[in-house]
Amino acid sequence: FIFSSLFLFLLKDLVISLKDYIKAEESKLEQIKKWAEKLDKLTDTATKDPEGFLGHPVNAFKLMKRLNTEWGELESLVLKDMSDGFISNMTIQRQFFPNDEDQTGAAKALLRLQDTYNLDTDTLSRGNLPGVKHKSFLTAEDCFELGKIAYTEADYYHTELWMEQALKQLDEGEVSSADKVYILDYLSYAVYQQGDLSKAMMLTKRLLELDPEHQRANGNMKYFEYIMAKEKEANKSSTDAEDQTEKETEVKKKDYLPERRKYEMLCRGEGLKMTPRRQKRLFCRYYDGNRNPRYILGPVKQEDEWDKPRIVRFLDIISDEEIETVKELAKPRLSRATVHDPETGKLTTAHYRVSKSAWLSGYESPVVSRINTRIQDLTGLDVSTAEELQVANYGVGGQYEPHFDFARKDEPDAFKELGTGNRIATWLFYMSDVSAGGATVFPEVGASVWPKKGTAVFWYNLFPSGEGDYSTRHAACPVLVGNKWVSNKWLHERGQEFRRPCTLSELE
Ligand code: OGA
Ligand code: FE2
Repeated sequence: FIFSSLFLFLLKDLVISLKDYIKAEESKLEQIKKWAEKLDKLTDTATKDPEGFLGHPVNAFKLMKRLNTEWGELESLVLKDMSDGFISNMTIQRQFFPNDEDQTGAAKALLRLQDTYNLDTDTLSRGNLPGVKHKSFLTAEDCFELGKIAYTEADYYHTELWMEQALKQLDEGEVSSADKVYILDYLSYAVYQQGDLSKAMMLTKRLLELDPEHQRANGNMKYFEYIMAKEKEANKSSTDAEDQTEKETEVKKKDYLPERRKYEMLCRGEGLKMTPRRQKRLFCRYYDGNRNPRYILGPVKQEDEWDKPRIVRFLDIISDEEIETVKELAKPRLSRATVHDPETGKLTTAHYRVSKSAWLSGYESPVVSRINTRIQDLTGLDVSTAEELQVANYGVGGQYEPHFDFARKDEPDAFKELGTGNRIATWLFYMSDVSAGGATVFPEVGASVWPKKGTAVFWYNLFPSGEGDYSTRHAACPVLVGNKWVSNKWLHERGQEFRRPCTLSELE
């Protein structure tokens, strides 16, 4: 999900107008209080000696006046609406505020992060995340809310986790308006849906202890008992054939998972280690761009990140000032990144690519132009046929699931309008450090590249023959804590004919 800091400014503005409203209400109440006190005194003296009091012409007059004209003033004071300014301000700002869909999106992002980074519910609820500056907790109410969102998505796995957490926090004595009966109701259903009948029964029993008259729970209990009895019966006469189909579906599930599993493992930094023999062949060096005049006296630091596909990282390759300029140029233009929908051929947003991005041309700033030249000098590739510099910003939960940067054979039209061939190579600048998460990972080969501000990585997506290198499949892991800024340059085939000539073998 994308949480714009714009919201924070809106919120700040609303808090100011809310405070103004409170002041107005307070001064109104203050005036009413004074009235009440005056009236109190008056009635006090009047009732003590009604005849004496009313026998005094001034008193009689004052009382008349009070009850006739002044009472009307009091009435209109009491009825006066002080909330006008606040409500109209609120109505204007409200249209910019997140809606139900945004809230669900934020909740889903949290659940996704929980899975990717193997975070247990308690750790997440207590805000014990690595690298956080502003720790914050989830209340039992919040946990219940998350559980409910998972429930409406028919995601009973997370429903169970979060309902259990809500219950746990209540059991530990947290003061809350969350209701154990409601929580147990959801929880037992989620547990039942996942097939744990005896646990579902136990939870329903617990619910009935709190509320013996609960209609659904009583009904469920009877149903569970019935199913339980039937299952026992069936178990006695179960056949081997059934076991067989069960095993088959299990195998299918496992087959479906690998890439996602590998991706998530790499994101957590649990990648399989390279053999020491291979690792020893990775070097670092000073690189002069193959004797490029601009780098002979001041070569740059270059490090091998991976051997196959070859991924190299350049260090101190973009300065903090340049990064600031690029970010400032991009900020007003950032919008939700899109992808090609293979069915319609149109650009759409997708849950697997959550970030904001913008394109910068070399014409608009000497800084961008200088960066383009740097990429040309250090890759030896012609940047005149490259796409413009893309700047991307990932917020918490922002990610780009495994993909290829190049176009496959079955999508020959992908870069047709550019007329510069396929994406031969990718250059990716890291323009920020990331507190937790946000690695660039290559699940086919097991490489994780961690963001480091001021560095850049480079790899070829195509073999010299023009054939796509499928080992370059990669992803941007979801940001767990912090904010990730990158910018990248996709270099194309045209113009590289003599810079990177093809060889005799197709996959070399
Ligand atoms: C991309 C990409 C990786 C990253 O934008 O195509 O793969 O780490 N980005 O942001
Ligand atoms: Fe990519």
